[in-house]
Amino acid sequence: MKVVIIMPSYNEATNIGPMIKVLFDEEFPKIKGAEMHLLVVDDNSPDGTGNIVKKEMQKYPNLHLLQGEKQGLGWAYVRGMKYAMKELGADAVVEMDADFQHDPKYVKDVVKAFLDGADYVIGSRYVKGGSIPKGWPWYRKAMSYFGNLFAKVMLWKPGLHDFTTGFRLTRVKGVLEKVDLDHLMEMKRFAHKLDLFYRTTKLTKKIVEVPIDFKERTKDSSKFVFKEMIASYKTVVLIRLKESQRLIKFGLVGFVGFVVNYVFIRVFRQINLSETFAWLFATELAIISNFAWNNLWTFSEKKIAGVKNIVAKFVTFNVTSAGALVIQSIFGPLGVKLVGEQYTVLVLAFVVALMVLPYNYLMYNLVIWKTWKNPFKKKTS
Ligand code: GDD
Ligand code: MN
Repeated sequence: MKVVIIMPSYNEATNIGPMIKVLFDEEFPKIKGAEMHLLVVDDNSPDGTGNIVKKEMQKYPNLHLLQGEKQGLGWAYVRGMKYAMKELGADAVVEMDADFQHDPKYVKDVVKAFLDGADYVIGSRYVKGGSIPKGWPWYRKAMSYFGNLFAKVMLWKPGLHDFTTGFRLTRVKGVLEKVDLDHLMEMKRFAHKLDLFYRTTKLTKKIVEVPIDFKERTKDSSKFVFKEMIASYKTVVLIRLKESQRLIKFGLVGFVGFVVNYVFIRVFRQINLSETFAWLFATELAIISNFAWNNLWTFSEKKIAGVKNIVAKFVTFNVTSAGALVIQSIFGPLGVKLVGEQYTVLVLAFVVALMVLPYNYLMYNLVIWKTWKNPFKKKTS
């Protein structure tokens, strides 16, 4: 297994030399079962960070350097990730800071979790054993805490705790290789991490949070400012909105299905089909319409393709649709019994809005197109 640490640097001349030494001389030798590499992505730091790396490269063959224009942190990471995957053949990449706020001693914990089967390892400050700097002023602590809480609720990840950490490992196969790295939000800022996190966790099966003490920055000053915080909130809201778009599409497709259902009942009755068969065929046509439009539009990024897959999923889709029918035929009559037959339309509306639609949406996301993973299934350890 080849693990590449991607370390962006901007004016880290005082940190990068010691960091390289600690990693290669002390930490990497402790790691068994993985070939460790370090890729520094330096944005032509004026303080000569790049030259220090070049010098050390003569001593350490597993040390690599990418240099380029300063385009911001997200682009530095994306450049590094692509290079690590394509040129270095990485099996996993680690995101890590150069300024010793991420103690190099945690690298082995993170890599071990990966070797034990994790797809995504989060160096977490908010799990037992982890911490943020004691010396941070209260408002910086509050900012970090509430930012994480906001992300946790909005992105609906009740099992996870640190969404903005800069210390993470991602498996390449099946995960990072499938993330569209060129179209992340807020690539110039720290906030890109939230979008990267969200897209990554859609692809991962096993996420592990490893506790880290986030150290105080000793040399130079942090590049994290107020603007970064605003951008982070914005990113979380935008991700949420993008997800809600799906809900709107789902609603429209459902409405089309309803129209198809109604129109074809009339059509089939016109051509003298019996009531039962008219309803049966029309309902099936509505189910086909729902399946097709949701596949092509609502869940286009998870499009089911290939005749075999489509047939198999369509069968499942019919089963879950039958579930909706069962819900309706249980709670419909029950509701009518409760409030009286004159309110049948209301009962139907309530049952559809509060039970059938949520049920369908849940089934589509969990069973059919699998955009959600069961958030309560324990996947962290
Ligand atoms: N190449 C490149 N280009 N590197 C950069 C750039 C850039 O534009 N901006 C920052 N870096 C490098 C720094 O040199 C450092 O190695 C790392 O990215 C993190 O930058 P810091 O300035 O030290 O960030 P921080 O300490 O404020 O933020 C850390 O904590 C945040 C959460 O509290 C980072 O780990 C963030 O990712 C994290 O969200
Ligand atoms: Mn830092």
